[in-house]
Amino acid sequence: MRLTPSERSFLKWAGGKRRYASTLVALAPDFPGTYREPFLGSGAVYFELRPTTSTLSDANGELITCFQQVRDSPVEVMRLLNSMPNTPEYFESVRRQKPEDLSDLERAARVIYLNKTSFRGLWRVNKKGGFNTSYGAYDRPYYNQNTLLRASKALTNATITEADFEAAIDQAEPGDWVYLDPPYVPLGGWADFKRYTPGQFGESDHIRLCEAMRRADARGVFVALTNSETEFVRELFGAYFHEARLATRRDINIVSSKRGSWDLVFTNYEPAVPEQMTLSM
Ligand SMILES: C[S@@+](CC[C@H](N)C(=O)[O-])C[C@H]1O[C@@H](n2cnc3c(N)ncnc32)[C@H](O)[C@@H]1O
Repeated sequence: MRLTPSERSFLKWAGGKRRYASTLVALAPDFPGTYREPFLGSGAVYFELRPTTSTLSDANGELITCFQQVRDSPVEVMRLLNSMPNTPEYFESVRRQKPEDLSDLERAARVIYLNKTSFRGLWRVNKKGGFNTSYGAYDRPYYNQNTLLRASKALTNATITEADFEAAIDQAEPGDWVYLDPPYVPLGGWADFKRYTPGQFGESDHIRLCEAMRRADARGVFVALTNSETEFVRELFGAYFHEARLATRRDINIVSSKRGSWDLVFTNYEPAVPEQMTLSM
């Protein structure tokens, strides 16, 4: 069943899986435990799956505060958003705010505001943690109350924490399903990687991720990973996990020749889908 727009995430995230969340949900094993998503981003797969028990986490503390406040205080978040005009001047003042000077509610509204009014919604910060994506100049309402309220309801029973992925995976118990969507290994090598948080996500992190997946596998946890179709990824994860190919489209890649490429999906169980899947967008 496809989700209507108001049932989707309230954020649009770089590398977000909104376009093929339903295909990823079709890859879910029949798992009796908790759903875990340690690279939450906008939570596209979570909103598609709607599990009863879940633990959602991300290393981006601003994003996590936002999810917690949307779950607990959606009306108050919306009240703040309704007082934030979509103008270049106001955007500039919000961009310059220091999260540590704000309340959790204000931090949550700031994340939604910047996500929806900045250029392509990219969450990009400099070394000092300052937000540095430019103004998007989008002439449309920048958030939807219905979407936010439904997201809040869908998150009611979710445990939401700020965590590095390794700690999050190590908490998984037998019978849980962990869906992993890290910052991808860049198609052109690490020279042109996209930054999501002040820390870079590099080669050693992907190796750390592979090791954490193997430990989880040994404990009887179901794991699934999406990553780019690169030699590095194939060699690292392909050595231990089942591999499938998903046709996709990168919405933040401005090099048009790189659009329409494939993603790889690695699982430690036999997914109930053909080896190769082509998706119509
Ligand atoms: C590709 S995005 C996930 C997109 C998500 N699946 C969606 O549909 O929106 C990757 C996420 O990993 C997070 N991240 C980066 N480094 C991390 C780390 N060391 N531990 C946990 N999360 C991390 C980023 O903040 C970002 O939200």
